[in-house]
Formats: sequence, structure tokens, C-alpha cells
Amino acid sequence: MSAMPRLPLTPEEFRRLAERAARFSSEYLSTLPDRPSFPKVTGEQTEKLYAGVLPEEGSGERVFDDIAQVFELGRPPGPRFFGYVLGSGEPVAAIGDLLASVLNQNLTAWRSSPSAVSIERGVVATLAHAIGCDGFTGSLTGGGSSANLMGLALAREAHAPANVHGAQGGVVYASDEIHMSMPKALALLGLGRENLRLIPADENFRLSPARLEQAITADRAAGKKPIAVVASAGTVNTGAIDPLREIAAVARRQKIWFHVDGAYGALAAMAAPEKFAGLAEADSLSLDAHKWLYQPLDCGCLLFRDGAHARATFAYSGDYTKTFSADPVEGFAFFEESMELSRRFRALKLWLSLRYHGVRAFRASIAEDLRLAQLLADRIRKEKDLELLAPVALSIVCFRHRGFGAASPDELNRFNAAVLKRMHERRKVYVSNATLRGTFALRPCLTNHRATEADVLAIADEALAAARELHSQPATVTR
Ligand SMILES: Cc1ncc(COP(=O)(O)O)c(C=O)c1O
Repeated sequence: MSAMPRLPLTPEEFRRLAERAARFSSEYLSTLPDRPSFPKVTGEQTEKLYAGVLPEEGSGERVFDDIAQVFELGRPPGPRFFGYVLGSGEPVAAIGDLLASVLNQNLTAWRSSPSAVSIERGVVATLAHAIGCDGFTGSLTGGGSSANLMGLALAREAHAPANVHGAQGGVVYASDEIHMSMPKALALLGLGRENLRLIPADENFRLSPARLEQAITADRAAGKKPIAVVASAGTVNTGAIDPLREIAAVARRQKIWFHVDGAYGALAAMAAPEKFAGLAEADSLSLDAHKWLYQPLDCGCLLFRDGAHARATFAYSGDYTKTFSADPVEGFAFFEESMELSRRFRALKLWLSLRYHGVRAFRASIAEDLRLAQLLADRIRKEKDLELLAPVALSIVCFRHRGFGAASPDELNRFNAAVLKRMHERRKVYVSNATLRGTFALRPCLTNHRATEADVLAIADEALAAARELHSQPATVTR
């Protein structure tokens, strides 16, 4: 037998590579403020460069030479990125991801990763405490979509048990502003998207408790089985927060599960708890630390009030996963409370980053995002060519250009879609879009700890500049 190491790398070589990666990363971070908001690159180019099958032979350290181009052709996590809902990748946490991979724990159960499991339990408790949900437990997930899916699985098992005999039906309620992860969850759970009752949101894009209760009553009268209501603690389109306390009361009266989708907004309860009254009345709730806690992807979380529901839903152990300890910690298994078995050590980045800066600094940063969103909204209100399209409940600011007197709603929509495209081409700021009851909106979402006041106000400047450019070359708008 050969004594040659199979994947040779000495600790000294590892150190050289890691130092090289650290040097490169810190240089890259120092250039972020000056980078365009999106790289100049086409899909054809990236496919040609990267989508092929990799070679049989290794190239050694030279492969690290190629990293610079990968970064160059990536979308920079810079101070003027305001697209979708995404945090900006806090660098202490990024180091945490490297260390987590070196230790390579599998967070199935305590017996497989002792320190890591307790760290994840502590991080989850910290997140719950930070948003006023003391006593909730749960686990970290790949993101809000998985957390929402797991939350609805708890709801289904509690009110229409399906694990043994299969899905027997059940209706779930939400406003028509709910995130697409919900219809997806109903489909995956065998409940069917038709059984997601989408209740038209009110004029502030919120779920109306009265309409909710009417819909539940009507369904019961028609022989259906209501099982859960999902409220948004910050909708993806406008950031509207559903009236959580009133919805909790409806859920209690109607004896159905109360899940809160807080993937975008729930962490803002750290800075503005008064906006989230009723959050702690949820049976389950999702939140995303890779959104408004600025962590590198991926890092979602499902919290629940009562772990017994999670175990009733997910505990099904084959012999090889059975734990043999009666000790409540040493016998603890995340896989009995989660749909996942193998899980990476996501908690390490949070554990380092939250302790490095202190929870207080994160709270202050979220408060700053909230302030900057109001500042941008004020700027838009004062600008005669711009128009705010929704209340700014959190840090999403939906607005549009008035189109220099464009005649029809369709024309205005087309004009603003062209403004967005031109903004992307100008590469100074990055925002995404939403459609609010048929109206096309430019939609910056402020969850970026790198953004300054000037960066945020640049959003309005850039919308105006893009519109002016289009107005001076009108043919480009309708192309
Ligand atoms: C309100 C809301 N719910 C759920 C999700 C899904 O989260 P993830 O992308 O982490 O799966 C998002 C993502 O933007 C969201 O904004």
C-alpha cells in the first residue's frame, strides 16, 4: 500500500493558502466603496468561463490565481446594493464560515458535535431573546423558505396530521402580499396551492383580521378544515407588517396555528419592538440572519413556542441515528426538530460576529436602516418627478418616476421598467422592483450595514438621472 497522502496538503501549505485568501479578501473589501454596483459581464461569458466540466489533473496553488476574476465578475456586496432582501456579508462572520468548515462539524446531534450544538442552541436563544420571544427554541436553516416550510409542517401535523397516512387536506390563510415560499410550502406539503386562501390586503398592504375571520368562517361552513394563518412581519414587496396581535387573537379563537413569516422583518423587532406587538404570540416564526442581521449566506432560522410540536413533526429515527444518552443535552438531536439531518455549523459565524461587535451594535445598525429608509422616503416626497407608492413601515421604499406626464398606467409602468434597466446599466446603485396592484415600483430594500446616508440618497438621484437619459432618447423606452 502506498503511503502517499491522498489529497496532499501540509498544514504549512494550508497556512500559506489561507493567508493568501485573507490578504486577497481584505484588499477586495477595501475596494468595495469604489466598485460599480454590478459587473460588466454577460451570461455567455460566465458560462464559457465556468460552466464546463473540470479537468482531471490538479493545478495546485495556481487555482487561487483565478479567484480574482470570480470576484470581478460577481455582484459586489458594496454600500450601494439595495436589491431583493439581502444582508451585506459581515466579514467577522465570513471568517466564522471558514473556521466552521475547518472544524467540519455535523450538527445532527450533540454526540456528533458537542460544542457546536450548544453554540447553536445559544445563538437561537439569543435571536429569540433579541426579538422578544424568550423561551422559543428552534434551529438554523438554509433560509426563510426552509423555515417557512418547516413552520407549516408543524401546523399541518398539529391540526391535520399527515405523517402516517398522508395529507388529508387543510386550508391556510394569508394576505395576497405573502412571499412565494408559502404557496411553495403548501405544494410540497401535499396541501395544494389552491388551499392557500389569499386574502386581498388592505390599503396599507396588510392582512385584515376581519376579512381573515370571514374567510375562515365561510370555509368551515363549506366543510373545509382551516389549519393555519400566516402573517408577514414585513412583506417582501413593501415591508408591511400585518396586525400580529389581532391575527393571533383570530387564530386562538379559531383554534388554528399561527405562523409568522419574519424572514425579512422580524429582526427589526430588535430596534423597533413597538412595530411588532403580538410577535411573541406566534406558534412558529421564521427569520433570516442573512438578511437583516448582515450575515453571509446562508443563515435562516425557525423558532417555535413548543418543541413538542417540532418533535411530533420531525422525530423519526432510523437505528443508526438513535441517541443513547438520557442526559437532556447529550441526548439532544436537532434532527428530531428539523427536516434536515446533516447540517453545517452555521451558528459559528453568528456566535463570532454577534460577540465581536455586540448585539447592541446590530440593533443600532438596524435602527440606522430604518432611519435611512424614512430619509429616502422624505427625499422622494419632496421631489416633484418622483412618487412614493406605499407606506414605509420598515426599510423598503417603493416609488416610481412620474414619467414626465406619461399618459396611461401601462406607459408609466413601461417607463419605470426602463428606468430600472437604465439604473442597472449606469451601475451606480442596485435596486430591484415590485408590482403593487398592477403598478410597477422601483423597490430599494435597506438591509446593508455598509450603506451611508449619501449611498441611500443616491437611489433617488440615480432614478432621476436614468429617467432624464431616457427622456432625451425616447426610442429606448418602448424597445
Ligand atoms: C418575507 C419573506 N419571506 C421569505 C423569504 C424567503 O427567504 P429565503 O430567500 O432565505 O429562502 C423572503 C426572501 O426574500 C422574504 O422576503
